[in-house]
Amino acid sequence: MYVKFNPSALLPLGLLVSSVLSSPTFPQQQPLGQNDDLSAAIRIHSKKPAVDAESLAATIETENLLKRAKDLYTIAKISELDFGHPTRVIGSRGHVATVEYVKKVLSSLGGYYTLGEQTFPAVSGYIYESRLVIGDTVIPHRPMSLTPPTKNKEPVLAKVVAAANDGCSESDFGEDVKGAIALIERGNCSFGQKSENAGKAGAVAAVVYNNEPGSLSGTLGTPLDHHIATFGIAREDAKPILEQLKAGKEVDGSAYIDSEVNVIRTKNVIAQTVLGDPENCVMLGGHSDSVEEGPGINDDGSGSMTLLEVAVQLTKFSVNNCVRFAWWSGEEEGLLGSTWYAQHLTPEENKKIRLFMDYDMLASVNFAYQIYNATDAEGDPKGSEELRNFYIEGYKGLGVNYTFIPFDGRSDYVGFIEAGIPAGGVATGAEGIKTPEEVERFGGKAGEWYDPCYHQLCDDLTNLDATAWNVNARLVAKSVGKYAESFKGFPERTLESDEVKAERKKSAKKWKYRGSKLVM
Ligand SMILES: *[C@@H]1O[C@H](CO)[C@@H](O)[C@H](O)[C@H]1NC(C)=O
Ligand SMILES: *[C@@H]1O[C@H](CO)[C@@H](O)[C@H](O)[C@H]1NC(C)=O
Ligand SMILES: *[C@@H]1O[C@H](CO)[C@@H](O)[C@H](O)[C@H]1NC(C)=O
Ligand SMILES: [Zn+2]
Repeated sequence: MYVKFNPSALLPLGLLVSSVLSSPTFPQQQPLGQNDDLSAAIRIHSKKPAVDAESLAATIETENLLKRAKDLYTIAKISELDFGHPTRVIGSRGHVATVEYVKKVLSSLGGYYTLGEQTFPAVSGYIYESRLVIGDTVIPHRPMSLTPPTKNKEPVLAKVVAAANDGCSESDFGEDVKGAIALIERGNCSFGQKSENAGKAGAVAAVVYNNEPGSLSGTLGTPLDHHIATFGIAREDAKPILEQLKAGKEVDGSAYIDSEVNVIRTKNVIAQTVLGDPENCVMLGGHSDSVEEGPGINDDGSGSMTLLEVAVQLTKFSVNNCVRFAWWSGEEEGLLGSTWYAQHLTPEENKKIRLFMDYDMLASVNFAYQIYNATDAEGDPKGSEELRNFYIEGYKGLGVNYTFIPFDGRSDYVGFIEAGIPAGGVATGAEGIKTPEEVERFGGKAGEWYDPCYHQLCDDLTNLDATAWNVNARLVAKSVGKYAESFKGFPERTLESDEVKAERKKSAKKWKYRGSKLVM
């Protein structure tokens, strides 16, 4: 069965969001315009055998996956010219070439897919130098990612004033904060919001101290107009300062951050089958970008190349439901591409996405087969738990053990969950530490990271476990095959009324992370 697909509906024009990001110079979409002969493509491809989970999984060959990883590494090396090492960070030649590579492969598939790309503004930041002295103590700290610099990129000398409460409301900052360094406890709202409130009150810098043991390192997230230079420090280092302030003593400090926050254009690539019911789509995504430090062959070369390989293999079949693949950009800067996409769906377009599956890091060398623990109990959109249960059955069927990990905001499912779309996914682990019990279940080394090269230069061709990749690529193929065949038994989506939407937003869960970075 197929229903004719209107390509212009693929990437709907949406309202632009926040002030910094709303420059009209960023077009929402540029349909690529191939697939001129849509009806011929539909005629040819609909004669193919109908897809199912097992048939699609049977097309996966480790050799094909490894060849794509090699292509990707060659592409990452293009950036050596500018960066001195391979990388596919947004804005680099390596990233641009990654996007071109994905598009080139997809457009050589006989019009099986309609391609779209979505250009959006992405924020990226660099921190060159920072220093924090309070009283006569040099305070160990981490500047928040995406922090603006102190005024004129010079040290500011000011008294230190503690926020009245958690700093989550403007009224937590009194008159005395004007011109001061604001000291704020972590908790209850994002670092970005605390910085914004302190900035609005006229503070010249903000210092957020941890509410649990250890140092504090996070991100301010999307830049806001009043963000000020913001540091994270340990609770232990804040304690003596707070005691002096409580005793009515005046405490002076010097805060300095030299940093840069830039807005660049980057793009998501979207491909949708010309076959299949376009009112009922299974959507999946991986991210096309890496961090600046390295080539990102596991993160997320493994996921994004799995998607590409599954997209290629899917062309051997016809589908009942539409399948939509996404290669997100700006994941490493805070899930920017996927969030942009999900936030710009009209209610009608939103409803067509029956579920979203996130595939980020599928071949970690010290792997565990991890399933995001999306549940009804946590208020995740209806269907997320069904998807989680599908992965349980999927891994069982592949004869391997699995484990649950928190569904806490670390990858590109966030925008979808926030838009009310059921979502889930699997991964093999990043900088978490493998336990002895997990070694019994998965093999590997206890006490070490799942991915020992996570966000480093060594995330290269040697940083892949071929067995784990093969298992996960077959699981991804099963997930596509299953829902492309049928959504039988899977919860329907409904058009939300404004009241329902408002209610859902009110009870929405607060994510601890946005991508790899702590936000609150
Ligand atoms: C967060 O809110 C709770 C409840 O209102 C409050 O008890 C707690 O002190 C707040 N946290 C901070 C850091 O102030
Ligand atoms: C999964 O999430 C549910 C709901 O919050 C929770 O009850 C359960 O303990 C979690 N399971 C694991 C293994 O984390
Ligand atoms: C699954 O884990 C158990 C230990 O809990 C182990 O005995 C078994 O060999 C594991 N199975 C596989 C396929 O690794
Ligand atoms: Zn990733």
